[in-house]
Amino acid sequence: MEEKAISVTGLKKGFDGNEILKGIDFDLEKGENLVVLGKSGVGKSVLIKCIVKLIEPDDGDIEVLGTDIRSLHKDDELNEYRRKVGFLFQGGALYDAMTVEENMRFPLERLPNKPDNDEIEKRIEEALENVGLEDTRKKMPAELSGGMNKRIALARTLILQPQIMLYDEPTTGLDPATSKEISHLILEMQDKYKMSSVIITHDMKCAEITANRMKVIKDGVFAFEGSYDDLSSKDDPWLKNFFE
Ligand SMILES: Nc1ncnc2c1ncn2[C@@H]1O[C@H](COP(=O)(O)OP(=O)(O)OP(=O)(O)O)[C@@H](O)[C@H]1O
Ligand SMILES: [Mg+2]
Repeated sequence: MEEKAISVTGLKKGFDGNEILKGIDFDLEKGENLVVLGKSGVGKSVLIKCIVKLIEPDDGDIEVLGTDIRSLHKDDELNEYRRKVGFLFQGGALYDAMTVEENMRFPLERLPNKPDNDEIEKRIEEALENVGLEDTRKKMPAELSGGMNKRIALARTLILQPQIMLYDEPTTGLDPATSKEISHLILEMQDKYKMSSVIITHDMKCAEITANRMKVIKDGVFAFEGSYDDLSSKDDPWLKNFFE
């Protein structure tokens, strides 16, 4: 059987006796964009944080690129793991006190096999080109718009060439036109770097643009699955709310 990018089985997580994720199962195929939809507070960010090991699940299995992530303990194992699995945080914050260029250089400088200066320059150049912001190198994040900050944050995550990308609300807080741009950028990067991605969103336009497949969380489990067209034409009153 072909190795999955991510395979999650029976994932449970609660806080203070309140069960949030009640048995989440899904596979992410290699090269696939999976959109996860769900109302605010349903546990979407918790799910992603379990996958990057920022939160310890109560129960269930998570395999990423064939590795049971419970077997990763040491700092260097975790660092290596997190280089393979890029995570664009909800909010996508850059380091405020660093220029764009310094923000981009930071993850590269910390690599165990630090690339030489020419290679670092090349990668910063390429990463900024990817998001169409080559001329912002010397700028501070505060001098850039929200949409530009998101694009730089995306470029900074991609600079480590992760095999898997996890996007937590990549378009929240952006105007519709900029949201569309970011969504198309996610598609372009999937294609260019042959990445597999989980995209968490409640922006239906973003879902429509990016999804190869969608899954919808309801009451702690995945209640619906299908393509954007499948789900948008389903005759379910609860589901219809998302598409209105
Ligand atoms: N570290 C934590 N400690 C305690 N409770 C938490 C923690 N992280 C998340 N929660 C709770 O888990 C629930 C799910 O949170 P989560 O952030 O995953 O929601 P979400 O689906 O991402 O919502 P949104 O769409 O608003 O981002 C919330 O009730 C939240 O308060
Ligand atoms: Mg969230």
